[in-house]
Amino acid sequence: MAQAVKTKAPAKRPQAKKAKAPAGKPAEKGLTPLGTYSEGMEPNPVEKVIFERRSIRAFEKEPLPDNMIRRILEAGRFAPSAGNAQPWKFAVIKSPEILAEMEADAKKMAKLFMAGLDYTKSPLRRKLLGPGARALIRVMKNSLHPVPFSLLKVIAEDRAPVFHGAPTLILLYQDARGVSRPAVDIGICGQNMVLAAHSMGAGTCWIGLIKLLMYLPKWKKRFGVAWPYSLDECLAVGWPKGPYDGLVPREVQEVAWYEGEPDDPPRMERQGE
Ligand SMILES: Cc1cc2nc3c(=O)[nH]c(=O)nc-3n(C[C@H](O)[C@H](O)[C@H](O)COP(=O)(O)O)c2cc1C
Repeated sequence: MAQAVKTKAPAKRPQAKKAKAPAGKPAEKGLTPLGTYSEGMEPNPVEKVIFERRSIRAFEKEPLPDNMIRRILEAGRFAPSAGNAQPWKFAVIKSPEILAEMEADAKKMAKLFMAGLDYTKSPLRRKLLGPGARALIRVMKNSLHPVPFSLLKVIAEDRAPVFHGAPTLILLYQDARGVSRPAVDIGICGQNMVLAAHSMGAGTCWIGLIKLLMYLPKWKKRFGVAWPYSLDECLAVGWPKGPYDGLVPREVQEVAWYEGEPDDPPRMERQGE
């Protein structure tokens, strides 16, 4: 049977600054889900949390109180999963020494990857590395998609951190024995945590780049990553530094509504306009 959530009063914390549209991004129609409430419907508190949450990449040094971290874990623990398999395991990293070592090693790995992959730096590198790098990028098309590729590049050039200086990381281990697609369950579980954290005034950022550490046996050993577990995602968690609520620009989605006779073509609606 599910256990009751054992939490005390919410931690005291100076109130984070209130929602503000990011500069240059007015809340215009089509940019934000809030723009779809043109019929005058107020977003409810859950919707507000969903719409206003942003990835936080600057944190106060002081970590969240443990009890709050437990509440965030609890939101993850209660996530739905295929067959209720709950194909996950969590760990909380708070030790500043371990966090610093993770950051340093992840950065080293980013540099190593870029040393072998970044063929754009000079004509010679383009000639020598280009074909191999392009082939690898094709094979690892998700990990080396242009977005993580350019993120790796700025990390390797010491222009961005991997874990954003967060005082706490929540590791989301995936259990390969889950039903259907455990990665989907991990996503839902993490999103529960992220939304719960935001609702409490905390900030989070998914860090898929924790994968960099999984190339180093020492981290697999330290974090106990062995069959059936893998560690592809973690959440940076803490008090946001500066204002954090914001309108989230998203693409307008063309949604097909099948609502007529079976042979009728769907009615297309542009969601978000
Ligand atoms: C599975 C996953 C992995 C992510 N990995 C990283 C990461 O390694 N580093 C990072 O800074 N942001 C990471 N992000 C954050 C995304 O960049 C961010 O969610 C996206 O740009 C949308 O911005 P928003 O979260 O502020 O709405 C990740 C997000 C997800 C869902």
